[in-house]
Amino acid sequence: MTRRSCAIHAVGVTCALLLVVGIGLVVAQVFRTLMHNRLKKEIVLVEGSRVFESWKTPPPPVYMEFFFFNVTNVNEFLEGAKPEVQQVGPYTYREYRYKDNVSMLENDLKVSAYNTKSFVFLRERSVGDPAVDSITTVNIPAWAVMNKVKGSFFRSSMVSIWMNSLKSGLFTTRTVDELLWGYEDPLLARISATNAEVEKVFGLMYKKNGSNDGEFIYHTGKQNYMDYGRVETWKGQSQLTFWTSNQSNSINGSDGSAFHPLLNKDERIYIFTPDLCRSIYMEFEKDVEVKGIPAYRFTPPRSVLASKEENPANEGFCVSPQECLGTGLLKVSPCRKGAPVVASFPHFHLADPKYVAAIGGMSPQRQHHQTFLDLNPTTGVIVRANKRAQVNVLLSRIPGFPKTRGMNETVFPVMFLNESVVIDDASAARVQKLLLIVTLVSNFPLVIVGLGAILLGVFIILLVRARKQKTSTEDDTSYSPVSDKEKEDPQNGTYIGLTPKADPQD
Ligand SMILES: *[C@@H]1O[C@H](CO)[C@@H](O)[C@H](O)[C@H]1NC(C)=O
Ligand SMILES: *[C@@H]1O[C@H](CO)[C@@H](O)[C@H](O)[C@H]1NC(C)=O
Ligand SMILES: *[C@@H]1O[C@H](CO)[C@@H](O)[C@H](O)[C@H]1NC(C)=O
Ligand SMILES: *[C@@H]1O[C@H](CO)[C@@H](O)[C@H](O)[C@H]1NC(C)=O
Ligand SMILES: *[C@@H]1O[C@H](CO)[C@@H](O)[C@H](O)[C@H]1NC(C)=O
Repeated sequence: MTRRSCAIHAVGVTCALLLVVGIGLVVAQVFRTLMHNRLKKEIVLVEGSRVFESWKTPPPPVYMEFFFFNVTNVNEFLEGAKPEVQQVGPYTYREYRYKDNVSMLENDLKVSAYNTKSFVFLRERSVGDPAVDSITTVNIPAWAVMNKVKGSFFRSSMVSIWMNSLKSGLFTTRTVDELLWGYEDPLLARISATNAEVEKVFGLMYKKNGSNDGEFIYHTGKQNYMDYGRVETWKGQSQLTFWTSNQSNSINGSDGSAFHPLLNKDERIYIFTPDLCRSIYMEFEKDVEVKGIPAYRFTPPRSVLASKEENPANEGFCVSPQECLGTGLLKVSPCRKGAPVVASFPHFHLADPKYVAAIGGMSPQRQHHQTFLDLNPTTGVIVRANKRAQVNVLLSRIPGFPKTRGMNETVFPVMFLNESVVIDDASAARVQKLLLIVTLVSNFPLVIVGLGAILLGVFIILLVRARKQKTSTEDDTSYSPVSDKEKEDPQNGTYIGLTPKADPQD
């Protein structure tokens, strides 16, 4: 009789203990906090950390697709008709990225590196041979030169004469290879004969193969996980000098290759892109799933490229009041040696409809032309990303060049790119394993509560039986095996309770 009541008491006390501790842990989220602190500590750009090697040499394959706009009515356009373009592409390249000359600074608080990229053509993923396919498009070097000499009667006349004698028109026909990787332009060659600073060769991706875009210094995230991968300086500068306000010139966020763990749906993700010569931001759009990994989709909202009327914060991107363009465009001439180059999303996605209407052949579609980043919110890992951007040239009437006389200001599309990446299977498996551990450990208190609940059931059954026995005064020895079992159970419970403490070390 005393042995049994002792067992019943033990079960009751253990059950109460488990329930109290379990519910306490659930409410205080001790294990979740523990796990999150562990993630913050492990996701840092430090030698030997979980993420360092894949940051230096990202394993997922990156593909770069180029699409060109082939102009089909050059002569009519020059006589005042609406331009018609035909999209030609993709010309696809496998992009290889790695970080060069990585060195730790300031006791592992910062790291410096060069981002090297190289491109290898993939014929089977392309529409044609870039060495053969020819595209008619804006003669960008000529427009750059005309803009440069604008305002000087003498220099304009000179360039005008040269352009006539070299048969260098407002439009040109070149192969895809030439447009991307460079060709010697006769007008530039003529100018470089007298001005050594001018490069003879022009190409949209000229000198971009196997090269880097300058030294970056990043925060490693050791001090604060929110700083993980954040750019501190680029080419030794913590501010840009292209734009006219401090806000526009600031270098914000990461370079797009690393994002801090424990992402929030409400936060703005900042990315500094040297291609655009500015920082942009992205906002949460929706929940997605890639290879079984949950992710938040972040995408740049319209306000990023909105006109200064729509978003006054963008005023700093107008280099002069006359050069302010409408929503959806960014004039990047300050960082293109003054060439009238305008960046936008492909097909003027998110731009003022007047730019779409001005060009025959544009059809913006969110699904095909938006830029987005799918990030796993727990780890900050990129599970899928698409960067899409279009290169345009601003055509306008330029005094001293009679051929441009009939021309209205037109933002003329030349090419757009689609750079995409999806997490590789091996990395996906690693992330899934990590997420599983995080979930299991975070929810461990629920296991304790569950055990407590089971014991509560056992406790009630024992109590009911004990009461019945008291009334029927039966022999108690037949029940001893049962009470023995119950005695072991609470021990089992605490034993199981101890094991997962070793788990987080995995
Ligand atoms: C571009 O258009 C021209 C004529 O307008 C055509 O001859 C040429 O084949 C086109 N290029 C491509 C790659 O389709
Ligand atoms: C140029 O703009 C004027 C006034 O906005 C318009 O009347 C004319 O049709 C335009 N010309 C072309 C070629 O678009
Ligand atoms: C990396 O360091 C080596 C040796 O110090 C140097 O020759 C090379 O130019 C550096 N690479 C870059 C991209 O700066
Ligand atoms: C880029 O360089 C690599 C080797 O460094 C070469 O294999 C590849 O063909 C080059 N790509 C282009 C587009 O020239
Ligand atoms: C960009 O690339 C992705 C992945 O390769 C592809 O799914 C998508 O259709 C491409 N977008 C366009 C506009 O071609």
